[in-house]
Amino acid sequence: MTRGELRYEGKAKRVYASDVDGEYIVEYKDDATAFNGVKKAQIMGKGEINNAITAHLYPLLEGAGIPTHFLAKLGDREQRVRAVTIVPVEVIVRNVAAGSFSKRLGIEEGTPLSRPVVEYCFKSDALGDPLINSDTAIALGWASEADLTRIRELALNVRDFLVPYFEARGVRLIDFKLEFGKLASGEIVLADEISPDTCRFWDAKTGEKLDKDRFRRDLGGVEDAYAEMLARVTQTV
Ligand SMILES: Nc1ncnc2c1ncn2[C@@H]1O[C@H](COP(=O)(O)OP(=O)(O)OP(=O)(O)O)[C@@H](O)[C@H]1O
Ligand SMILES: [Mg+2]
Repeated sequence: MTRGELRYEGKAKRVYASDVDGEYIVEYKDDATAFNGVKKAQIMGKGEINNAITAHLYPLLEGAGIPTHFLAKLGDREQRVRAVTIVPVEVIVRNVAAGSFSKRLGIEEGTPLSRPVVEYCFKSDALGDPLINSDTAIALGWASEADLTRIRELALNVRDFLVPYFEARGVRLIDFKLEFGKLASGEIVLADEISPDTCRFWDAKTGEKLDKDRFRRDLGGVEDAYAEMLARVTQTV
């Protein structure tokens, strides 16, 4: 498998063409950004860790009936994925109030939600990924009603798999962000990554944050938290 031309460079990953039609190679970088790119740094080892965590979880999600873009881990930083057209809607699933949800609604961080909350944001760096609802995405042609119904169903299925998975490994899954893509066939699949960059993980015993909030909020111990999450994710219970 050889890397072709660079198709897209994001803040955390590079997407390359491959020598197989319909497949891309994703390279995970150590670069970290927060607050829509205002805060920038490197987190040593992050690329390898996020690649390993995603490469561990996606086959398990497939096993739970959730179609994903993941095909294989190629190396420390690289994985082979199915090329998709990314739906320009970020899907956030919340179990416990935190982050922008707490801020926007004045709900104290850590307040459990009586049922999961699915939120949608328009994927736009220029606009700072603004909150939208499903009507907006449909009206503006970003996704069809059927696509969004499927996306919501899959997002909740991901939650139903991940919450007990992490609980068994001493981690509370507070919230997470997913991206979905469309295959040429029209099928919706889970794309992008699931990692401490895209989830809030709190240690079940101590409440310690084990995710990107350590970077966003200057809490220190960022590298250690990412390494700890890789150990937890790959732990057999
Ligand atoms: N299977 C896939 N096919 C095509 N593009 C993909 C696939 N999986 C992920 N991507 C896209 O790769 C890009 C690079 O990822 P990265 O996480 O670096 O982006 P980002 O900086 O978070 O920016 P943004 O997600 O806002 O574009 C993202 O735009 C993501 O949507
Ligand atoms: Mg990203």
